[in-house]
Amino acid sequence: MNNIQKSTATIQNALPDFAPEIAIILGSGLGKITDIMDVKATISYSELAGFPQTNVVGHDGVVLLGTVGGKNVMFLKGRKHLYEGNAVDSLKTMIRTIKSLGVQTLMLTNAAGSLIKSYGPGSLMAISDHINLTGTNPLIGDNDDEWGPRFPPMENAWDADLRKNLMSAANKAGITMGEGVYCQFLGPTFETPAEIGMARAIGADLVGMSTVTENIIARHCGLQCIGISAVTNLAAGMGDVALSHDQTLEGAAKAEQNMAKLIREFIVNL
Ligand code: HPA
Repeated sequence: MNNIQKSTATIQNALPDFAPEIAIILGSGLGKITDIMDVKATISYSELAGFPQTNVVGHDGVVLLGTVGGKNVMFLKGRKHLYEGNAVDSLKTMIRTIKSLGVQTLMLTNAAGSLIKSYGPGSLMAISDHINLTGTNPLIGDNDDEWGPRFPPMENAWDADLRKNLMSAANKAGITMGEGVYCQFLGPTFETPAEIGMARAIGADLVGMSTVTENIIARHCGLQCIGISAVTNLAAGMGDVALSHDQTLEGAAKAEQNMAKLIREFIVNL
């Protein structure tokens, strides 16, 4: 058995006959969102073959299975980032395991810097499209034909119908949410003001160091994706607060409660 088959079996054995409709990967500082779940099983990444062994503060390394408003849901707390240097294999294992479990919809959440002044720390933005500015791609190398095509199209990287549902969930929950183009930089440095100027010029509304990588792996194997950014700061050169990981976690904490409400409303209406 390969790592994906082993991890799929471990998760299935932890809660037999449980079919999650949606998997949600939680970004930095957004771990408390799992409070909306009636948890039925908890599996540590350390028990899952090939899963990311996370070591960034705010990334827990745990899979939770349970229900939200009666719907079967799988939460994944923690993910590897490209800047850690060895992220791609574990991200592929994690996302292809989600696919193997029969999930059709993957929700990706992150903490991001905003290029739109009216969406400051604590606001939420739906990801409408992305720009991969990492200079790399997780699908480089031999194509894994059993998972997807050599040249995956990316026109529907972020599913338009799911985004409509997310917008109406936001309305119902009384939450103001924008939407925008997310640009992934490689990190781990935050951007320079000049880099933010470039990102703006090429059409970015949000910047961060994750999510595009996961989206590419997910689209390759046919998962439909919906993305939400928790704005933790105005991008470099735009605000008066120095950027740091602590500041990211502080900003995420501001958005966390609304994000939880929004995700709950979205799932209930699935
Ligand atoms: N840049 C990159 N990543 C981030 C930021 C940012 O401004 N905020 C939170 N994650």
